[in-house]
Amino acid sequence: MKNPTLRGIDLVKRFGGVVALDGVNIEVPPRSVVMLIGPNGSGKTTLINVVSGYYLPDRGMVFLNGREITRLEPHERFGLGLVRTFQIPEPFKKLTVLENILLAARSHPGESAFKVIFRRSWRQYEEEIIEKAFRILELLNIDHIWDTRAYQLSGGQLKLLEIGRALMSDPMLLLMDEPVAGVNPVLAHNIMEHIVRLRDNLGISFLIVEHRLDIVLDYVDKVYAMHRGKIIAEGGPKRVIENPLVAEAYLGG
Ligand SMILES: Nc1ncnc2c1ncn2[C@@H]1O[C@H](COP(=O)(O)OP(=O)(O)OP(=O)(O)O)[C@@H](O)[C@H]1O
Ligand SMILES: [Mg+2]
Repeated sequence: MKNPTLRGIDLVKRFGGVVALDGVNIEVPPRSVVMLIGPNGSGKTTLINVVSGYYLPDRGMVFLNGREITRLEPHERFGLGLVRTFQIPEPFKKLTVLENILLAARSHPGESAFKVIFRRSWRQYEEEIIEKAFRILELLNIDHIWDTRAYQLSGGQLKLLEIGRALMSDPMLLLMDEPVAGVNPVLAHNIMEHIVRLRDNLGISFLIVEHRLDIVLDYVDKVYAMHRGKIIAEGGPKRVIENPLVAEAYLGG
């Protein structure tokens, strides 16, 4: 059987007296969009932080595609294909869309610039990177604005650029905290359509924290609902939303 892209087992994280994660089990299957919901303070961001390596859990284990990564540094996880969108720095406002995408390119692990020079010419290396950048821009339907400077982009286009920058590092799993926050509904749907397309075309998995359930739910394969550090419901979006425990949690129960 295929390993899940991400697996968290019995994760516990305490801050003083607060148990932010209280025995969380979570699984993101390959090629899937998984959403994390729950009221304020329920532990969603803490879980993302533990998965991405910003916090070490007090207990439990994290696996990426079957490999244990519980104690790896964030940049080591990044090297293995676990990418968090805000790990990608803010776009450079004065640079164009294409230039911003190119800056996010990284040389492959273990492949120093030196080796690249000896193996093939810089020119060929650059051509490959530019081709890759354009493939990504096309996938996101922002190839027509490749020469536009970042400060001229709309909020929705900036979000797509941020996703594009993440894609340059060939992620296996993208973690996103509120990908459609502050974006108008039309663009929010557009961003979610692109996420689904990236899942289908590139086989990437997504773990998304989002409060705008009305927009995002239709696009996700699986939902985990959290409350007070625990998973209180999981499964298909409809099933989780209709779970009375979830409504109760949001009402402050
Ligand atoms: N660095 C920290 N130090 C102390 N307490 C923290 C820290 N990070 C989170 N907490 C606490 O852990 C609990 C879970 O917080 P977390 O930020 O994970 O919730 P959340 O579900 O992301 O909430 P929101 O929807 O508001 O973003 C809260 O009680 C919070 O106050
Ligand atoms: Mg949060």
